[in-house]
Amino acid sequence: MFDELGDLYQQLILEHSKSPRNFHKLEIANRMAEGHNPLCGDRVTVYALVQDGLIKDISFQGSGCAISKASASMMTTILKGKSREEATRIFEAFRDLVTNGETQEDVGKLAAFGGVSKFPARVKCAILPWHAVVATLQEAKPNVVSTE
Ligand code: FES
Repeated sequence: MFDELGDLYQQLILEHSKSPRNFHKLEIANRMAEGHNPLCGDRVTVYALVQDGLIKDISFQGSGCAISKASASMMTTILKGKSREEATRIFEAFRDLVTNGETQEDVGKLAAFGGVSKFPARVKCAILPWHAVVATLQEAKPNVVSTE
């Protein structure tokens, strides 16, 4: 059963990396931040329209491996419509999941990234777009955040 679940999760990650959702510049964004992975040099820019404490719209652009692209893609689909507080809670649960392999929260499809914890070098890939989104929620000016 676990192998089947692993296969399913792998397919989900592959599918999102091949056909990423919300992969474009968001012209109406009022927040923008760039995540940088110093290990490989890859960068992901996250755009968000934040109004009344809600993420009304969100998108991303950039170069990166399959893990970072799939992570960004799923992140944007999950965070659209969420409040700042909900987004922060989901980020913390996701960070627990990819660093420790488990989390107390129900993270839905993000559970697909649980296996990343076995590959420390890939943890930064999975977290890369999330660091950028956290920065967009805190800072109105464009900025660059590193996964370190
Ligand atoms: Fe660069 Fe994964 S190898 S983000």
